[in-house]
Amino acid sequence: MKNLIAGNWKMNGTMSEAITLAQNIVQAIQNEVELLKKNDFLVCPPFHHIVPVQAELSMAVSIGAQDCSPFSNGAYTGDVSAEMVKDVNCSHVILGHSERRQYYVESNLMVRQKAMVAHEQDLTAIICVGETEEQREAGQEQEVVATQMLESLPETATAENTVIAYEPVWAIGTGKTATTDDIAAMHDFIRGKLAEKIDNAASVRLLYGGSVKPANAAEIFAVNNVNGALIGGASLKAEDFIGIAKAS
Ligand code: 13P
Repeated sequence: MKNLIAGNWKMNGTMSEAITLAQNIVQAIQNEVELLKKNDFLVCPPFHHIVPVQAELSMAVSIGAQDCSPFSNGAYTGDVSAEMVKDVNCSHVILGHSERRQYYVESNLMVRQKAMVAHEQDLTAIICVGETEEQREAGQEQEVVATQMLESLPETATAENTVIAYEPVWAIGTGKTATTDDIAAMHDFIRGKLAEKIDNAASVRLLYGGSVKPANAAEIFAVNNVNGALIGGASLKAEDFIGIAKAS
């Protein structure tokens, strides 16, 4: 399977910076079209940047949202529905990112509900899981990740409409990456557990996220059961984002 190189732009940048970043990414891919043989590209800007960013993207780069409402539509002030995300031609939505779990107290149940409405709209849900540093130190990382994943996955999940992103919380934005042994152990474990929930679990893409950069991408992509990366900081510079793809 091709690697998915996914950029999570988080809450960064002005409109003009987002447009420039999109233009630079497209230009960089046009300069190295062979990257498309091994990689699919996805960018996930803030909601209101989605439409103008998409206008700059070519077919080579898909677009997604960073979240969606658990509700279908109606009186939910501040929310953006999966239908609205689909309506602006997004193909993916990131759900259950650890920043949402931490700062907005999103539960597995809520993530599951969001994934269901996303699937109803034919969006691919990128469901994020990952342990904290304390949980890893206590040897609980597999238990934590299994619970998050199995409780967050709805019955509608298939290998086609679901991606799992393993992002150890302590590796996000810290410059600390998990060792390749740790990533291998967790990705093998996730693949095995997924079979309890999804037919054809071998075809589900498993992304690693947490301080991925051009300098460490090659060793991460070489790990068994790593099918791409969910990239935060390094996705805000076209050179680094494409540099990561070059390592795959
Ligand atoms: P960083 O790449 O900045 O560590 O962020 C990872 C992440 O949270 C992607 O969703």
